[in-house]
Amino acid sequence: MRKIVPEVIERYCTENTTPESPLLRELVAETYARTAFPEMQVGHLEGALLRMLVRLIRAKRVLELGTFTGYSSLVMAEGLPEDGKLITCDIDPQVTEIAKKYWSRSPHGKKIELRLGYALETLKTIEGPFDLVFIDADKENYVNYWESCMPKTRSGGLLVVDNVLWSGDVLDPKDRTDRAIAEFNRHVRNDKRVEIVMLPVRDGITLAWKF
Ligand SMILES: C[S@@+](CC[C@H](N)C(=O)[O-])C[C@H]1O[C@@H](n2cnc3c(N)ncnc32)[C@H](O)[C@@H]1O
Repeated sequence: MRKIVPEVIERYCTENTTPESPLLRELVAETYARTAFPEMQVGHLEGALLRMLVRLIRAKRVLELGTFTGYSSLVMAEGLPEDGKLITCDIDPQVTEIAKKYWSRSPHGKKIELRLGYALETLKTIEGPFDLVFIDADKENYVNYWESCMPKTRSGGLLVVDNVLWSGDVLDPKDRTDRAIAEFNRHVRNDKRVEIVMLPVRDGITLAWKF
C-alpha cells in the first residue's frame, strides 16, 4: 500500500491521537513479525477513528467483514458498552488464530464473535439490525457486501468502508481491483439510501449514514 497522506502529516496526526493500548501495540508487532501483508491492519489512527465512531453513535451491535489479525475488531470492541457485540467474518483460519489470542487477553474480547468462511456465504446466516458495519474484506466483492449489509444496517446506522482510495489508483484504474473499487465508489455515490463522505484517512475511508 502506497501512502496517500504524506508520512510526516500522518505521523503528526497519530501523535495527536489517543495512544494505542499496550496490547494493540503488541498485536501490531506480532502482525509485522508473522504475516506477509501487515499493512492490511487498520492501525493506530484509523483504529482510533473507528472506536470513536462506535462511541459517537452509541453502537451496541457491530458487523465487520475482514478480521485479519483482529486489530479493527478489538479497537471497535473497546468502544462498545459491556453488553455490546461485534461479529467479524474472515476466511483465513491462520491469521485469525493470532486475533483470537489477543482478544482473549483483553477485557473487551468477550464481545467479539468470529465467523470463519466466505463472507458472502456467512452473511446469509447473519441477521441484523446492526448499528455499524465495517467493510474491509476482498475488494472485488465490495458492491456485493454493500448490498448484503444495507438491509442489515439500522436506519440512522453507519456503514464504514476501508481502502476506497486504494493508494490513489482508483483515479486511474488499471487492474481488476482498481476497477472494482472505482465501480464500488460510483455505486455508493448513486445510492439514495445513504448520505456519504469520503475521507483521505490512511488508504481512504467512506462513511455512509443510512437514512
Ligand atoms: C484488509 S484485511 C482486514 C484487516 C482488518 N480489518 C484489520 O484491521 O486488521 C482483509 C481480510 O479479508 C479476508 N478475506 C479475503 N477474502 C475474503 C472472503 N471472501 N471472505 C471473508 N474474508 C475474506 C482476508 O483473509 C483478510 O484477513
